[in-house]
Amino acid sequence: MREVQIAASVLSCDFGNLQQELAAVGSADLLHLDLMDGHYVPNLTFGQPLIAKIRELSALPLDAHLMVTNPAAYVDPLADLGVGWFSFHQECDYHSHQLVQRIKDRGMKAGIALNPAVPASTLECILPELDHVLLMSVNPGFSGQKFIPSILRKIETLREMIERKHLSTLIEVDGGVNADNAADLISAGANTLVSASYIFANTDHAAAIRGLRGL
Ligand code: DX5
Ligand code: ZN
Repeated sequence: MREVQIAASVLSCDFGNLQQELAAVGSADLLHLDLMDGHYVPNLTFGQPLIAKIRELSALPLDAHLMVTNPAAYVDPLADLGVGWFSFHQECDYHSHQLVQRIKDRGMKAGIALNPAVPASTLECILPELDHVLLMSVNPGFSGQKFIPSILRKIETLREMIERKHLSTLIEVDGGVNADNAADLISAGANTLVSASYIFANTDHAAAIRGLRGL
């Protein structure tokens, strides 16, 4: 089976015990940061001071998922903070191609996020430029929601597009991921699984991460 990367989403961590929580997910491959502005999605999460603290406390690569109406404004601040991956929702910037170049110019991996209702085919022209595609498998805004099963077919479609073009673009799946659906997501074509509630609701976070890897 395809090797999978696990991105632990801090959205569900106990922020009162941030240091211990980040240490407990040290076996993940990435730390996923959900930036929400209260406009693009109703929820409001965290900004640069907290990301700076997270950077200080964890050596894992930081995977920023921008759920904001003005993602371009975050490119320089997040690059300066040492963020490694930057994904924005396609409809939040008129000039996706240009924004992808700006993200890469700042040394970050560039990704586009698609909501559940947006087809993979919308990426046909930009796909060769992308390091990763983030497929939302819940409607963005909150952790703890139920996985939307039709996303499995979308993962397969995107995997076919990537193979047809001989690309190495990674497929990241975000929302409602758990040990019961992880194997299906990987066989459909996913490379990176994001999880907040499944990892952090389990008192043994490392065991939950192993569970997502199928171990
Ligand atoms: C939702 C966020 C997700 C969220 C996943 O808008 O983008 O990253 O943290 O949470 P779970 O794994 O609980 O569905
Ligand atoms: Zn996310």
